[in-house]
Amino acid sequence: MRGLLLSVLVLGFACSKNNEPPPPSSGVPGAKPESGPRGQPARPVGTNTGTAMTGDERAAALFGQLCQTCHGPNGDGNGPVAASLPVRPRNYTDPAWQASVTDEQIKEIIVKGGAAVGKNAMMPGNPNLATDPDELNGLVKIIRGFKK
Ligand code: HEC
Repeated sequence: MRGLLLSVLVLGFACSKNNEPPPPSSGVPGAKPESGPRGQPARPVGTNTGTAMTGDERAAALFGQLCQTCHGPNGDGNGPVAASLPVRPRNYTDPAWQASVTDEQIKEIIVKGGAAVGKNAMMPGNPNLATDPDELNGLVKIIRGFKK
């Protein structure tokens, strides 16, 4: 356990060294990077795995990649996949729905998935989030934020 903790710390440290801002660019498409002859090749956009993201940022990324395909970018349950689901996801903008669930219930279905809580199995589980309370809280904030 101690060894695992140590390697996690070491990994975290190694990652934080990667946190420098990208080299400045002129903003002109196709322009040469202005980082000089010895400059490092620019990192491709969207592969910032070396940067430490906050729980809220990880939650926003996950929602944008996964959750919104069913729940909709506005949380209204009208994502691109929603029409083909056997059960339509709830409309998170509805104040009555917001009042009907606790944060704990929201977290439980996100971690365990629909089937585990007696709801539709199309709602996937995210067991990795059981050990990431910051990201889980970030998702709850996003869902609560859809309320009209
Ligand atoms: C493949 C489609 C799909 C994806 C992807 C998905 N969901 Fe769901 N989700 C559903 C469906 C369908 C339900 C409704 C289940 C039911 O009511 O029986 C649901 C239900 C829920 C509920 C419970 C709402 C209620 O009725 O109380 C929450 C909270 C939720 N999803 C959050 C998320 C989050 C956060 C993500 C991303 C990590 C996500 N979902 C990804 C389909 C999906």
